[in-house]
Amino acid sequence: MISKRILSFFAAACLSIGIATATPPDEGMWLPMLLKQLNEAEMQNKGMKLTAEDIYSINQSSLKDAIVSFGGFCTGEMISAEGLLLTNHHCGYGQIQQHSSVENDYLTNGFWAKNKSEELPNPGLTATFIVRMEDVTKQILEGTANAKTEAERESIVQRNMAKVRRESTAGTHYDAVIRPFFYGNEYYMYITETFRDIRMVGAPPSSIGKFGGDTDNWMWPRHTGDFSLFRIYAGPNNEPADYSPNNKPYKPKHHLPISLSGVKENDFTMVFGFPGRTNEYLTSQAVEEIYAVSNPHKINIRETKLNILDKDMKASDAVRIQYAAKYASIANAWKKWIGESRGIRKANAIENKKQLEKQFASWVAADANRKAKYGNVLADFEKNYKALDGITLSRDYVMEAAYGVEIIRFANTFTKLQERLANNAPQTEINDQITKLERTIAPFYKDYNAPTDKKVFAALLSLYYNNVDPKMHPTAFATVRSKYKGDFTKYAEEVFAKSVFTSEAGVRKALADVKAGKKEALKNDPALQLASSITEHYSKNIMPTYAQVNDNLSLLYRSYLAGLREMQSDKKFYPDANSTLRVAYGKVEPYQPVDGVKYIHYTTLEGVIEKAESGVAEDYAIPGRLKELYDKKDYGRYGVNGEMPVAFIASNHTTGGNSGSPVINANGQLIGTNFDRNWEGTMSDIVYNPDQVRNISVDVRYMLFIVDKFAGAGHLVEEMTLVTDDTSGLPQVDARRNAAPAEATGLSKKEQRKAEKAAKKAAKKKAKKAAEVQ
Ligand code: ARG
Ligand code: GLU
Repeated sequence: MISKRILSFFAAACLSIGIATATPPDEGMWLPMLLKQLNEAEMQNKGMKLTAEDIYSINQSSLKDAIVSFGGFCTGEMISAEGLLLTNHHCGYGQIQQHSSVENDYLTNGFWAKNKSEELPNPGLTATFIVRMEDVTKQILEGTANAKTEAERESIVQRNMAKVRRESTAGTHYDAVIRPFFYGNEYYMYITETFRDIRMVGAPPSSIGKFGGDTDNWMWPRHTGDFSLFRIYAGPNNEPADYSPNNKPYKPKHHLPISLSGVKENDFTMVFGFPGRTNEYLTSQAVEEIYAVSNPHKINIRETKLNILDKDMKASDAVRIQYAAKYASIANAWKKWIGESRGIRKANAIENKKQLEKQFASWVAADANRKAKYGNVLADFEKNYKALDGITLSRDYVMEAAYGVEIIRFANTFTKLQERLANNAPQTEINDQITKLERTIAPFYKDYNAPTDKKVFAALLSLYYNNVDPKMHPTAFATVRSKYKGDFTKYAEEVFAKSVFTSEAGVRKALADVKAGKKEALKNDPALQLASSITEHYSKNIMPTYAQVNDNLSLLYRSYLAGLREMQSDKKFYPDANSTLRVAYGKVEPYQPVDGVKYIHYTTLEGVIEKAESGVAEDYAIPGRLKELYDKKDYGRYGVNGEMPVAFIASNHTTGGNSGSPVINANGQLIGTNFDRNWEGTMSDIVYNPDQVRNISVDVRYMLFIVDKFAGAGHLVEEMTLVTDDTSGLPQVDARRNAAPAEATGLSKKEQRKAEKAAKKAAKKKAKKAAEVQ
């Protein structure tokens, strides 16, 4: 028999030589407040020199104080004591575009504010910090035990949420966000502080910030300088305020020092940000529906639309600028779905899910208690997913094909007004509605080209007509059948000839007429009629089943997850992403995309030049200035051995919304900005495959090189904190680091603690002084 001692020796040996068996893969997006309990030890094993408390603390400044949700759709990080915010070029893209015109084309030429007075305000853009988070499961579930239906439970939950939110923020300028986790098995509240005066500071030209464009999107090896710079402004007391020229740059509680030391293979990395949505616990039926039905149709619809936009954008500069952001966002999901479907196949995801379900079934069957609790779950999944047959596809066509047509989507926002008119609502109510609608007109038409939309209209509705069971058509399609013999080009001619929605002037005139009492002005508008017909169809034929089944499913998933966690009680579960602050960690790591090929973990400027000179895609054009710097190898302190690093990959589990997230090293320093995932890894929203999933980041040294050397905006670099040692910028961490270990100094534990305290105080003083100097 092997003695215990030998066993434990063996375990220790495994640990010290780093045998991987014990190390779980880098899967997971973890809750900051649970890191201590769930992840700290493992993160430190992987090389992290921080504690959970250094990452998230409510008592002292911590990394979380440098992280913001950028506009609610991306992540950003503080990189100076003056509120300088780093995010992706594609996150700031909408703003860069809004400030651009044919004469002042910041998309093409880039933008750099020479001083603070040149920084450009962006009405509506926000940056949100997390003040603290809390487990509120008990308060939120209070009174739900006796709820008879999911709807009843939900209404109690909503009431409880409102109460907790109100009580938690009373008398403060904070907001509270409460979200369900694990399908409502748990609830957490995030107390947030949202800044509303966010100004644009700098953006490289698209030929750097979007280098590789849609050709390279979602792909490794990558050479994109996908970053942009903004600044948070605050009112008196450093608190959020509406835009005012008197606002001052915000002073964050923490900003990330920037490491000039770069990354090596196997280095520890961590990504801190706001991942949007994942569905890691879907059943096999759900994954099959995505793989075999939804994805193929949605991919086809978007491809059709992209081909039309592409032609028109190439034919006109004005259309190119109008549709740039829209094109990018349509193409983005389109390409992701393609990768996702391939990844699902490669990971054998459907079969693996089936195996897990089988295992679950036998686990349940083995025990009477479990049978009572979970006995119906799998069969009910089956029933409910059956009930969705045809419904999911119809819904996909409404969302992707019908609302993929701009005129329908815009006219749809007028259906409420139309209803009020039909019901003879009081004129004041109607005028209120009109005032609201009027505000949306200019922004919509600024980027609208009716001739392009007309082609999209004909093509997408025709797909809808041909690919969806006629029983699931909106009533308007009957007219297209009888009047135009199903010819959507002819139908488009008619709609675009008659509708007021084809031009800004047309809509404005119609609204003015309605205001003046001519209620009929919108009544026979063919675009509005079509939009109403689609909305009616959606709410009559799709929504009731869809909503009911989803209610049933959320209850089933709640049970299923509870059961799975019971069954795999030694496995650590992480909740699906839901746009709340999370930490992912992993390491800088290469991968093998296909048999016989290995991708290394970083790229350099060499690759930018290679692509530029390949003569292959227009997406690879580069600015002359970049080529000059390359020819002279003029990389300043940002290059290494004559090379200029550009991007790197690591095995952090990320998703949409993590764009702009800081990639942080073992010491809490910024080493990169996350901007993408590899194509082979996009299925990680549904199933994580450790061999294949990598997040893609701009190397922070490339950002610095572009700002300093390329754009000559060195004044921005000056306000950042560049480091080549272990400085974390967190007083408690730097104090620990400065206090030499007890064995080396011969100090007693007590003396050691005293020394730490003194060092901490000194570090704080130093930080304060530095802030004053800036
Ligand atoms: N794929 C990245 C993300 O999901 C980048 C998208 C923007 N870039 C582009 N070429 N469309 O957001
Ligand atoms: N580009 C994505 C974003 O905008 C991140 C890539 C991903 O989905 O992982 O958030």
